[in-house]
Amino acid sequence: MEQLGVVILAAGLGKRMRSAQAKVLHRIAGKPLLSHVIHVTQGLYPDRLVVVIGHQAAEVQRLCGGEGIAFALQRELRGTGDAVRAAQPRFQGFQGDVLIVYGDTPLLTTATLAEFVQHHYAQRVTLSVLTVRLDDPAQYGRVIRTADGQIVKIVEARDASHEELVVQEINTGIYCVQADFLFSALERLQPLNAQGEYYLTDIVAQAVAAGLPTQAVLATDPNEVGGINSREELATMEKTRQAQLRSQWMAAGVTLEDPETVYIDEDVTIGQDTVIGPNTHLKGKTRIGARCRIDGSAYIDNSQIDDDVHVHFSVVLSDSKLGDHTEVGPFAHLRGGTVLAPRAEVGNFVEVKKSTIGEHTKAKHLAYIGDAEIGRDANIGAGTITCNYDGFRKHPTKIGDRVQVGSDTTLVAPITIHDDVYIATATTVRHDVPAGALVFNTRKEEIREGWTVAKRAKEAEKK
Ligand code: UD1
Ligand code: CA
Repeated sequence: MEQLGVVILAAGLGKRMRSAQAKVLHRIAGKPLLSHVIHVTQGLYPDRLVVVIGHQAAEVQRLCGGEGIAFALQRELRGTGDAVRAAQPRFQGFQGDVLIVYGDTPLLTTATLAEFVQHHYAQRVTLSVLTVRLDDPAQYGRVIRTADGQIVKIVEARDASHEELVVQEINTGIYCVQADFLFSALERLQPLNAQGEYYLTDIVAQAVAAGLPTQAVLATDPNEVGGINSREELATMEKTRQAQLRSQWMAAGVTLEDPETVYIDEDVTIGQDTVIGPNTHLKGKTRIGARCRIDGSAYIDNSQIDDDVHVHFSVVLSDSKLGDHTEVGPFAHLRGGTVLAPRAEVGNFVEVKKSTIGEHTKAKHLAYIGDAEIGRDANIGAGTITCNYDGFRKHPTKIGDRVQVGSDTTLVAPITIHDDVYIATATTVRHDVPAGALVFNTRKEEIREGWTVAKRAKEAEKK
């Protein structure tokens, strides 16, 4: 049985990025470039998938690794041919063809690769290379063909003659090669070129010289096969990918009121009939259900939003979970580990951190709720603060069902307020309160009649 293998070249540094970080770890739509390529090739269900790493190998492996992905270390970066050779030990006992791609081409699609591989199988060739025609072939390797169109070799721009440089058909760096030929050809490579490197491209001339069937397949969309070399190109590809993701979600039944201002990460999902307003950022593994409304100016990271949720204008959510029919904002900040049960409401200028808020419970104005567990049908008044930090440790606050927390309450944690408690306004609560109790601080209220007039007169005398 013929097998399909994939080799992804990702050992390079990417000098032109001017970055301390390996190029393939830079992100498009929130995901490392290499992870995009891995995902796209996994769509072919290869029998083996090998990523060649070198620069920042451990970090690349940590961020992009996963089930079914093997890594091969290229110790010294001696060229693209040497890189593929580094993958050879991972192909013991392998019979079939190897698809070679670069790790910096995030716009590649599974469909394009599948078509290329199919073409390779259908023509029964030893080697296929994917090419593209460019108005400006720049520094790319030129595809040299005979008068009747048969590919002869690929020559790097640096090593090309004047006649060869005129050629506009270039090598994308994507190949499908019969494995036995590939690995034996790599053994024969010589670094006899301007860069003194082992060029993978030289296997084309080797196949032709050996009389093995070889083809150059011209791709239609140059954007898809393009690699990223600079920050400028990274930004351009981000734009392209964002446009694709917006189209994809609109086609799936999501309304984007001003599409160009909505930014969607690769792993985000959005339910049908959800409406998303301008300037919304959907990051990480955010999941949004059906029939939600996000008014706009929202930054939503790694959060789960169930169905029929209303996120009002200007809200920041991270690592939070919003149940069905909940409402948040305007101007609210929900941080790591916040869970709103169905129909809970968190309103204007409320910050919640690592807290659970029960069904139908409301905190509508100006509050800080941290490390708290709040029951159902409770009301948290304006100006409520959970004092969860004593300067050394964080402490929990527990609030039962149907508790009424008056405005301007401070709850000094650790503390438990049992069910049906009524906290009077402006209370500092330092001790646990039993169910059904009223709690208040005694503070004498004094009224001094005529005080203001007297004070002003005294101040006027001083002038
Ligand atoms: C290569 C091709 C060129 C083609 C172009 C398309 C060769 C000799 N030339 O040129 O014909 O038009 O790609 O983009 O193959 N890499 C390693 N280890 C190495 C060297 C490179 O893993 O030792 C990886 C890089 O990380 C990168 C890819 O291979 O992802 C391409 O390497 P690069 O040096 O950029 O090749 P180009 O000079 O652009
Ligand atoms: Ca390159």
